[in-house]
Amino acid sequence: MSSIPYAGADRQLMLSDDDWDLAGVEGALRRDSVVIVSGVTSERADAIVAEVAERFALGEQLKLQSAFASIFGHRENVGKNFMSVNRRGDYEYVTPHSEGTHSIGMQLASFYGLENTTDGGHTLLFNVNERSAEWPRLRAVKVKMDAGGRPATQTEIVTARVRYGAYLPKDIMGPDDEVLEEIASSLPGRRFFKTLSPIAAGPMVTSGRTVMSYWDNIGSADRDACDGFIGILRDLDLLRLPEQAQDPVAYDCARHSRVWRSGADFCDLFKAMVVRRLEPGELVLYNNPTWTHAVSNWTPGSGVRRVVAAFA
Ligand SMILES: [Fe+2]
Repeated sequence: MSSIPYAGADRQLMLSDDDWDLAGVEGALRRDSVVIVSGVTSERADAIVAEVAERFALGEQLKLQSAFASIFGHRENVGKNFMSVNRRGDYEYVTPHSEGTHSIGMQLASFYGLENTTDGGHTLLFNVNERSAEWPRLRAVKVKMDAGGRPATQTEIVTARVRYGAYLPKDIMGPDDEVLEEIASSLPGRRFFKTLSPIAAGPMVTSGRTVMSYWDNIGSADRDACDGFIGILRDLDLLRLPEQAQDPVAYDCARHSRVWRSGADFCDLFKAMVVRRLEPGELVLYNNPTWTHAVSNWTPGSGVRRVVAAFA
């Protein structure tokens, strides 16, 4: 089976708090390297992400993302800028994704390790391979509105976004969208559909380029992505399974809404990977559009994993 090569030293900037260098970090992110800072307190980690976000004029985004976490209640705020990661079920891993979707377009991602005494819980970062011929096979799961030729009113635009996550007018149904199911609509005369939609490139702030990204609504619905990721975990000896789970994909799919198979070669979509078991006090920072993150699972009861995240 194919695999993904480890990122070379030139793609990883390793620092300690003592040799902190904002200009160096800025350069590394512009070159799309991963920045790893060790031995930082949580207060210092908070200050570092704010400093870096500010450097790329993403300070407001950083505040907004942590505010959203508390408003929607799916995560808890930790310190100023960080938030808890989503709770995991037993043996649950997280398949690779860039945080958010194309519509949100988050630029910076950061994880900070507080504790990990489990027998797993590795953070895996995969760098997208923009030259891959597999991108056209991928689709994003999106809610779209059938406009029926009538432009949306302001109220409809707000409702579509808040209630259905559809960003109008971008998320109007088009001829290339494949309907998965219809969603009950609260807007008279408007129909909403869960669709598989073609994906497009979007902005990458640190480099000023337009890039393909592997957003959460692309990888998480694709069984082939899940198969590919399980293959990587097996290769790295990071897959933990309960005894009764003979078929890990069936086990996974029973718990996640992986609605289709793209047929894409998962490993070809990525050109480099970084695997870290975040130590307490370790902070990792990278470009969210070009690096996906994933987490390996662990044996329930083997320990505690506490990692917090910040996005801008
Ligand atoms: Fe995530």
